Formats: sequence, structure tokens, C-alpha cells
Amino acid sequence: MSHRPSAREIHAGEAAAVGITEPVIRELVHAFYGRVRQDPRLGPIFDREIADGWDVHLAKLCDFWSSVMLMTGRFKGQPMAVHAAIPDLEPAHFVRWLELFDQTLREVCTPEAAAMFAAKAQMIGQSLQLGIAARRGELPPVT
Ligand code: HEM
Repeated sequence: MSHRPSAREIHAGEAAAVGITEPVIRELVHAFYGRVRQDPRLGPIFDREIADGWDVHLAKLCDFWSSVMLMTGRFKGQPMAVHAAIPDLEPAHFVRWLELFDQTLREVCTPEAAAMFAAKAQMIGQSLQLGIAARRGELPPVT
């Protein structure tokens, strides 16, 4: 009897098929946060907010993207609560974050893999912004 793959398996398989592997995720995360740290708008927020140091943050973000793209379930965190607790976080920060993420994707990934990462990052960025706006009692951002 043939095994019918679940939606999760199809998704993780797609990512693997376009070359998304743990080493690629590691390279992406490290290169991306290298840019973030040097960015005049984003860097200071991270330097101020990061609780347990960059090594812990980078390991956490590798787990995050591994969970999102390869469905490994390794990430155990509360991204909404973490971002909602940053008082001066604005839509412009998300625009810049996504810009730097796209730049890094072009360097590190194949075009197919880059498109999958970018689509996920955009969706997650939007849902974080919606959640933040709702918690602050504001109107959600339009973009
Ligand atoms: C699509 C956009 C973004 C994604 C996917 C993302 C993802 C994440 C994740 C998964 C975490 C770990 C959460 C946890 O520990 O539970 C995190 C933490 C954090 N993010 Fe974001 N983020 C995004 C945008 C931003 C932006 C625009 C900023 C602005 C500077 C930001 C600043 C931070 C900070 C300061 C932390 C806490 C670091 C720490 O204490 O380790 N993030 N982010």
C-alpha cells in the first residue's frame, strides 16, 4: 500500500527539494544577523533587547527557521510576546528587516529557496505586526 504524505511532509519535502538544509539555514541566519547588527536602525534595538546574548539568539533563530521550513518542531518560543514587548517597534523596522533578509537570501540561496523563505518571512512579519497593533489597541498597518 502506498504511503500518502501529509500536508506537513509535502511542505518540508518541497523545502528540501529546493536545497533548504540545516547548513543553508545556519549560513542564512548568521549572515542575516551580521547585517542586522550593523544596521543603524535595527542594530541598537537588538543590542538593547537581546536577553541572553547573540549566540543564544542565533541558535534560537536557526531552530525557528528549521521549524518553519523543515517542520522539525525544534523552536520553542513566543515570538508574538517577544516582539510585542519591544515598545518602539514600528512597521518601518519590519520593512528594513525584510529588505536585509531579501539581500541575504540572494547571496546565500538558490532563487527557488529564496522565494520560499521570503514568502514565509512576509507572512510572519504581517502576523507579528497585526498582533502588536491589536495588543497596543491600534489600527493594523496597511502593508
Ligand atoms: C518577519 C520579521 C521577523 C521575524 C520572522 C522575527 C523572528 C524572531 C524570532 C523567532 C525571535 C525569537 C522569539 C522567542 O524567543 O520566542 C525573535 C526575537 C527578537 N526579534 Fe524578531 N523577527 C522579525 C522582526 C523583527 C524586527 C523588525 C525587529 C526589530 C528590531 C526584531 C527584533 C527582535 C528582538 C530584539 C528579539 C529578541 C532577541 C532575544 O532576546 O534573543 N524582530 N525574532
